[in-house]
Amino acid sequence: MYSHIPVMLPEVLKYLQPKKGENIFDGTLGGANYSLAIAKAVGPSGRVFSTDLDLLAIDNAKERAKIEGVNNISLIHDNFGKLAEIAEKHGPFDGAVFDLGLSSAQLDDQDRGFSFQGDRPLSMSFSQDSAENEETENILRYYSLHELTDIFRLYGDEPKAYFAAKLIVEYRKKKVIKTTGDLLEALAPILKGHHRTNPATRIFQALRIATNGEFKNLENALAALPQALKPGARVIFVSFHSGEDRIVKNYFRQESTDCICPSSFLRCVCGHKKTLKIITKKPLIPSEQESEENPRARSSKLRAAIRV
Ligand SMILES: C[S@@+](CC[C@H](N)C(=O)[O-])C[C@H]1O[C@@H](n2cnc3c(N)ncnc32)[C@H](O)[C@@H]1O
Repeated sequence: MYSHIPVMLPEVLKYLQPKKGENIFDGTLGGANYSLAIAKAVGPSGRVFSTDLDLLAIDNAKERAKIEGVNNISLIHDNFGKLAEIAEKHGPFDGAVFDLGLSSAQLDDQDRGFSFQGDRPLSMSFSQDSAENEETENILRYYSLHELTDIFRLYGDEPKAYFAAKLIVEYRKKKVIKTTGDLLEALAPILKGHHRTNPATRIFQALRIATNGEFKNLENALAALPQALKPGARVIFVSFHSGEDRIVKNYFRQESTDCICPSSFLRCVCGHKKTLKIITKKPLIPSEQESEENPRARSSKLRAAIRV
């Protein structure tokens, strides 16, 4: 059973304002909760185009759409980072939504290594592609001390990034890190004395982000927005990681101003014209009740803008 409790779904619908007959892009199908709700809102004359890298998410969505009698979702097994290409074929869209990161179904999947509960294979790829599934192991096996440190610092905000990287480099001299259990064993000295979730959560998150190139995918999708969206279209990002939220915030800021020349320039030479109007001055966060009912929603932030 592929299950995922949607995060801030009422807020997503409130800011997206899907209308009858519209075509909306959902970059992150996951448990299909957003896609199904949007498909119902746009009605049979509208359509939702949903991407996911995970075939299990696609199969689950087919099943759920059938059960709920929803026929207006096009399921695309692809990377939302290819939004430019996808929009050329199916767009431009009347709205778009991205609910970044991984689903609960992926986190709980015993055959993948997203969580450090139990001893699991070290595959942290969203897709079932076997080469990508070796990526986590390759990172731990071949990346240098400095590359590992950067990954843990940039993608995990891990204060002991260098120490963690050093532990891995030492451990792999004796044994290849192949499972989540090996990884925890390698990291044991920094997990000691901590509540186990802290450094381990940050390091697993960092490895997942590196494995999937998540920041790059996000940047590619953002760069494609001006072409992918119709004027007046709304776009929503829900993120769970400060680095991701920062990328969205900075892009929104840049795209909501005409001139982006350095402030020291006396006259504009960039010729940049704004493409977005921000409609969430501050990011929205889940209500206390939602965070209590679904602790995985806790660190989420929602930002929305309109294509001008
Ligand atoms: C948090 S879940 C989405 C949950 C969904 N909004 C719902 O309502 O159930 C994120 C999903 O995005 C997918 N994903 C992550 N990065 C992706 C990418 N670059 N392209 C396509 N799908 C991606 C993951 O495989 C996962 O299924």
